[in-house]
Amino acid sequence: MKYRTCLLLGVGALLMATSAFALTPPIMVKMKNKQGEVFFHHQEHQAAVNNCTDCHHMGFDVPRCRDCHGVDPEVPRLKRAFHHQCRNCHIKNGGPTECDTCHHIDLKN
Ligand code: HEC
Ligand code: HEC
Ligand code: HEC
Ligand code: HEC
Repeated sequence: MKYRTCLLLGVGALLMATSAFALTPPIMVKMKNKQGEVFFHHQEHQAAVNNCTDCHHMGFDVPRCRDCHGVDPEVPRLKRAFHHQCRNCHIKNGGPTECDTCHHIDLKN
């Protein structure tokens, strides 16, 4: 009995740990694409924006933008979603808007 309770507590703690882990924000997100790799400094952006859901506008059941945008034809394409969210905020708040400030051509590849 004691052993089972202990086991259940253990499983519960593990579940909590994995769900917390799933929401741990990345420090840097690298996105490879045809226009050149984009480096998105998640941690710095997070510090500048109060609510996670300003960007993660559908919450966290599906944490990655690319799991909806570019997959479901009813949902705006990925390029449009990113350009609208990233660039529009940059235009409003003084972030970079030149193509090559976001798209890096990695000469080593
Ligand atoms: C300025 C916009 C922005 C803010 C603010 C932001 N995020 Fe993100 N986050 C992103 C983008 C963009 C990605 C990359 C998504 C992709 O690759 O499709 C991402 C990725 C993530 C991922 C990784 C998903 C995966 O499985 O690869 C997690 C977890 C996450 N964010 C959590 C958070 C949390 C928690 C907060 C608030 C503390 C937060 N984010 C605030 C834009 C933002
Ligand atoms: C669960 C699915 C889902 C996820 C995850 C998701 N989106 Fe969306 N997004 C949608 C849908 C559906 C729409 C269209 C309806 C609306 O505007 O709410 C949309 C609309 C948008 C728009 C407006 C597009 C336009 O035409 O101007 C932007 C910008 C956007 N998403 C950015 C993002 C970013 C950036 C992420 C990741 C941080 C993200 N979305 C995550 C489903 C999703
Ligand atoms: C809610 C507003 C907001 C959103 C959304 C946003 N940014 Fe930014 N970003 C900023 C601001 C403000 C700065 C300028 C910060 C500074 O100069 O200290 C910045 C700076 C940057 C920089 C240059 C500095 C650095 O961190 O390397 C890059 C690159 C960048 N953003 C990429 C992106 C990408 C890619 C996205 C979308 C995935 C994005 N940003 C979404 C507000 C935003
Ligand atoms: C604020 C950052 C930012 C700026 C500025 C920006 N982009 Fe992007 N762009 C992105 C992000 C993020 C993506 C989505 C990356 C991914 O996941 O493939 C993207 C995607 C694209 C794609 C789609 C690539 C593919 O493989 O489908 C093209 C093409 C593109 N951008 C062209 C441009 C051009 C041209 C400019 C200048 C007029 C520009 N971008 C400026 C962030 C930016």
